[in-house]
Order: sequence, then C-alpha cells, then structure tokens
Amino acid sequence: MRKIVIAGNWKMFKTQAESQEFLEGFLPTLQQTPDEREVVLCVPFTDLSALSKNLHGSVVQLGAQNVHWEESGAYTGEISGPMLTEIGVRYVIVGHSERRQYFGETDTTVNLRLKAAQKYGLTPILCVGETKEQRDAGETEFLISTQLEKDLVDVDQTNLVIAYEPIWAIGTGDTCETKEANRVIGLIRSQLTNPNVPIQYGGSVKPNNIDEIMAQPEIDGALVGGASLEAAGFARIVNYK
Ligand code: G3P
Repeated sequence: MRKIVIAGNWKMFKTQAESQEFLEGFLPTLQQTPDEREVVLCVPFTDLSALSKNLHGSVVQLGAQNVHWEESGAYTGEISGPMLTEIGVRYVIVGHSERRQYFGETDTTVNLRLKAAQKYGLTPILCVGETKEQRDAGETEFLISTQLEKDLVDVDQTNLVIAYEPIWAIGTGDTCETKEANRVIGLIRSQLTNPNVPIQYGGSVKPNNIDEIMAQPEIDGALVGGASLEAAGFARIVNYK
C-alpha cells in the first residue's frame, strides 16, 4: 500500500506573519483529513522555526525547499540537514526545476543533496520533469529516465518521494492531462527498485482538478505551488474526494 503525500511548496512566499495567518485558516480544516494522507508544508527557511512550534501536535509535517550535502562548513547561503532536523523538519524538496533552471542545480548536486537529506534523517521529495521543448521533441521519456538514473545513484528508495512536475505546467494553469500524468508516473515507477515510492504530480494543481488527478491509479499525491498559498484552497486540495 503506497502512502499518499500532499505537499504545499510555498516557494519564496510568506513572511512569518503571513504564515501564521495561513495556519489560523488552515489547521481547523484538517480534522476531516483521513489518517493515511500525509500533509506537508514546504516553506521558506525563515518560516520553519515558528511553523515548527505552531504545527506541534497537528498532522501537518514540515518541509524545507533545499538542503546542502555537507553537515557544516564554509558554504555561504546554504542550510544543512542537521540544522533542519533540529527544528523538526521532516521533508525537503530536492532538484525542483526552479533550482535547476535559475541556480545551477545539476543531477550531480541533486544526487548529493538526496543522499545528505537521507543521511541526516529527512525524507527528500525529488522533482523531475521535462520542458515544453523537450516534450514537443518527443524527449520526455528519455529526459526523465536520464534524470532518475543520475539523481538516484546510491539513494535509498525506502525513504523517498518523487514528484513528476512537467515544467510547462508549473504556474501556467496548463495542467498536464491527468491520463498523461498517470502514464509518465507509471514509467517513473517502472524505473524504480522500490515500487512503493510515493510519486506525486505537480504543475497547476488546483481545488477544481485535484479530485480527477487523485483518481488516477499511479498518482500518489500532489506537489502544489500557487494553490497552497491560500488556506481554504489548499484545505480543499488536502481533503480531495
Ligand atoms: O513545486 C510545485 C510547483 O512547482 C507547481 O507550482 O504553482 O503550478 O502549482 P504550481
């Protein structure tokens, strides 16, 4: 039985005051959330400490959006695994397309970050996905299979979540057709040694399409950007039917 993981990725949004306001609207709605659904909020580093206190005792798990591969050292601007686990962080997004596109993240550094996350007790959410040009050129399968092959070298597949995020669907409102997302996620699963790794879909997930997305047999959750910023909308997503 695969775990369902619904995660919000706040990206570079929300001050501490705004995150507190979000929680006041969001937490009361979780009473109806079935136990088998893991709910995660991946928030900016500056929000982690306060949220950790405020989420204590709730079903929501805390996630970060990046982690360095060393335990400590002269790495200006980076955060290590022990720094995250010390304040109660359980998940970390690794290899998001925005990090690959704007911050020089490569499959080599993604692999280092995945292994470090696991070493220090975090569950990484590995993001993979193709650009519009790659999809139009018929390269989706090759691209994703290459990313997985390189990113997952020596990675423990018993403590891992994967998110299939087609880049052209991120923040565009142009959701991947659900059957197509299901097909690609099936292909991802066929490349894993552990078939029980939860595989999420990400890319313009909204309250009005979550039910259809989650009805697909291969899809084990969602990684939600814009729609996770608004408490009522994200609550509807978490409590999909
Ligand atoms: O990591 C989530 C993400 O990139 C999708 O963003 O705004 O399309 O839901 P959005």
